[in-house]
Amino acid sequence: MTSRPIPYIPLEPKGWRMAMGLRPLDPRKWLEVDASRDEELVLKQQLLASSYDVVVATTPDGDEGSSELLDEVRGFLGAQHPALPLSASSLGHPIVEAARLVQEDLCVLVRSDAWRLHAACVCFPSRWNLATKIGTTLDEIHGPVPIYDEQLGGPTNAFFDRLRPERAFWRLNWTLIDSPSLHQPVGARQSPHGDLAQWFFRVERQTVRRLPKSDAVIFTIRTYVASAKELCEGDPDFGPTLLLNLDTAPTPIQQYKGWSGVAHRLRSSLEATVEG
Ligand code: HEM
Repeated sequence: MTSRPIPYIPLEPKGWRMAMGLRPLDPRKWLEVDASRDEELVLKQQLLASSYDVVVATTPDGDEGSSELLDEVRGFLGAQHPALPLSASSLGHPIVEAARLVQEDLCVLVRSDAWRLHAACVCFPSRWNLATKIGTTLDEIHGPVPIYDEQLGGPTNAFFDRLRPERAFWRLNWTLIDSPSLHQPVGARQSPHGDLAQWFFRVERQTVRRLPKSDAVIFTIRTYVASAKELCEGDPDFGPTLLLNLDTAPTPIQQYKGWSGVAHRLRSSLEATVEG
């Protein structure tokens, strides 16, 4: 996968912090279409052909929300991007048909005793395993995330309960990873090896919407990846701000994200760049 410029750099100017970071979403910008579309849709087709059970998981309770999601995706593309073809087949599961039309990964959550993940097509996970998450609650999905339980679990569940179809939201996540590949299904997180040239800044733009008919919540994930070296070269503030965020992240977060030891190597690379 080619590394391209990233439209969002969600680094905190004053250092790392754990936050829901939800902002109101303009419905005309629900999903994003860019020059990588053809390449990424081909990659999705290949993954669906070779690794369907890795990238798709569904339960019957997610069917109604998935069908409504497919209608919403078609309606959105028809209204906002009328030149794009909408001719993907309707033979497969509706969440797969919807995911084949857009660059985003798509998830459907339905409320029973709690909000649970009931359908998903996730071709570009950031090192987590979809099969272990299907049918589970928001709290269980986030079980491996340090600090989530103490700081974000309650507010996130309450946010899902209060969410209404009229107001959608979005948020950004980022990490540093030692591969430019969009498809990163492996659970184990390792510290990126090598120097700056081998690291990639990976950003997820996530949206959350409640659908009016099925009452399901739709969670979309759009993944952008760019070379950390190129970002450092393109903006003199990027490297120092990245370093500040790595340095100020709590140790459990550094371990979870696979950043242990990375700040030290980044500092050396940046110093070498300045001296060189
Ligand atoms: C909108 C509210 C949500 C918030 C505030 C939130 C927050 C977070 C945070 C802070 C992380 C740590 C990842 C990182 O920083 O790189 C995370 C990871 C993750 N989130 Fe969420 N999340 C939300 C919704 C969801 C939903 C609806 C899903 C449904 C699929 C989801 C699936 C995941 C998964 C699979 C991970 C990785 C967990 C792992 O490592 O096993 N999140 N989330």
